[in-house]
Amino acid sequence: MTSAAPVVIVLAAGEGKRMRSATPKVLHRVAGRSLVGHVIEAASAIEPAHLMVVVGHGRDEVIAHLEEIAPWVDTVVQSEQLGTGHAVRLAVEALASAGALSDGPIIVLSGDTPLLTGSTVADLLSRHVVDGAAATVLTAEVSDPAGYGRVVRDPQGWVDRIVEHRDADAQTLQIDEVNTGTYAFDAADLLPALGRLTTANDQGEEYLTDVIGLMREGGRPVAALRVPDSDEILGVNDRVQLSEAAALMRDRINRRWMLEGVSMLEPSSTWIDIDVDLAADVTLLPQTSLLGPTSVASGASIGPGTSLTACEVGADAQVRHTWAELAVIGRGAEIGPFSYLRPGTRVGTGAKVGAYVEMKNSSLGEGAKVPHLSYVGDAEIGEGTNIGAATVFVNYDGVDKHATVVGRYVRIGSDTMLVAPLTVGDGAYTAAGSVITEDVPPGAMAVGRAQQRTIPGWVARRRAGSSSAEAAAEALAQSPPPGEEETR
Ligand code: UD1
Ligand code: MG
Repeated sequence: MTSAAPVVIVLAAGEGKRMRSATPKVLHRVAGRSLVGHVIEAASAIEPAHLMVVVGHGRDEVIAHLEEIAPWVDTVVQSEQLGTGHAVRLAVEALASAGALSDGPIIVLSGDTPLLTGSTVADLLSRHVVDGAAATVLTAEVSDPAGYGRVVRDPQGWVDRIVEHRDADAQTLQIDEVNTGTYAFDAADLLPALGRLTTANDQGEEYLTDVIGLMREGGRPVAALRVPDSDEILGVNDRVQLSEAAALMRDRINRRWMLEGVSMLEPSSTWIDIDVDLAADVTLLPQTSLLGPTSVASGASIGPGTSLTACEVGADAQVRHTWAELAVIGRGAEIGPFSYLRPGTRVGTGAKVGAYVEMKNSSLGEGAKVPHLSYVGDAEIGEGTNIGAATVFVNYDGVDKHATVVGRYVRIGSDTMLVAPLTVGDGAYTAAGSVITEDVPPGAMAVGRAQQRTIPGWVARRRAGSSSAEAAAEALAQSPPPGEEETR
């Protein structure tokens, strides 16, 4: 039995040809996290002393990504993909030359199995330590074993060898227990076996799986741990499997939140990223996506048809048919239907953002309202203020952006253009249809529009014989106008 901390090797050098993508396979995402990110997360459950990722194809992108999400991991470059055994050999050599190799177990994982859980990795490690085997292989029983290496057991149930699908005879192909590509190795057994690998197989590669047979020849036992849920070992090789993995992850995440007290009307159309945080008594309606580090407090209702990325939603808020990113929505606020909240939007407690309203880098005070058809950019709006329908915060002069400050309990008339930079004082009013270009002091009424001119009889003179003229004549016959003068 070994007691030293384990090291983990993650194989991620392959090209992932079948993805047909400019993005390296392990950087494709499921639930807002890269495939390799999920694998590293699962590996961290056993607190490895070192984690070495073998990179190859798209290495610059993969290395940059790893530095961002897990700066504590190390990488080694495998410039030519000469097989899984070759990849592990390079990783072991790199670990050894960094003085990072102890006599503890070595765990090998594939970078493309995002559904593997930390608890399965922990189970594999503890089974390995208890059995004292040279290696412990994580296996799975699958209905369609095509493509996988088959696990051949001896009469005692130990693993005798692993045979790759393409190298297997008809009888071996009948075996439905497959190698998941996840292993725990004893360092003292693995190192000499790696040195003896050959390329005598159908692909001319160094197969990691061949170390099993070599260990058995040396008289050492190799154990297997069968994973109870074979979904966990789904490897992503193409976009079909990517979508299968995403759906399985979605179901897993949704199930967890429902058990924590979140209601979902339609889990199959509800997509929640791994970093989202939800309180009990949140309700999620159909076609809703909560992405990035979004959080939703208790009693809030989100959806239908809503996508929130990196947003913070307060308790009891209602967000319907909305697209929002990097927005903070206050307690009891009402958003939508059909609102667009861009980065830097802060909606206060009990405030309202209504239909066809776009907001960007702006704050709306407590209880304030922008109910209809407005654009609010670079603005600060005080508590209790009402912004009339179709108001535009004119923040862009064609070259630069400018800010607008609207005070408390202000009434902005419908269809007002607020031309920034501008300040409207507390309690002020603006007349509907105004273009406001100068600051408005507290309590003032600002009117910024041409006065109305009414020309009586114009239609009868200039549109004689039209239906409008006829309708006007009938109306005028019933109730003649007060005077003939132009009304001012
Ligand atoms: C491998 C196993 C097979 C198992 C299957 C499970 C071998 C020989 N076979 O087959 O028994 O059933 O996984 O999915 O190991 N990689 C490198 N460098 C290389 C080759 C591969 O880093 O030179 C990486 C790949 O990027 C991938 C992983 O190792 O993440 C597995 O390689 P892959 O070519 O997919 O092996 P399989 O043929 O699937
Ligand atoms: Mg594979």
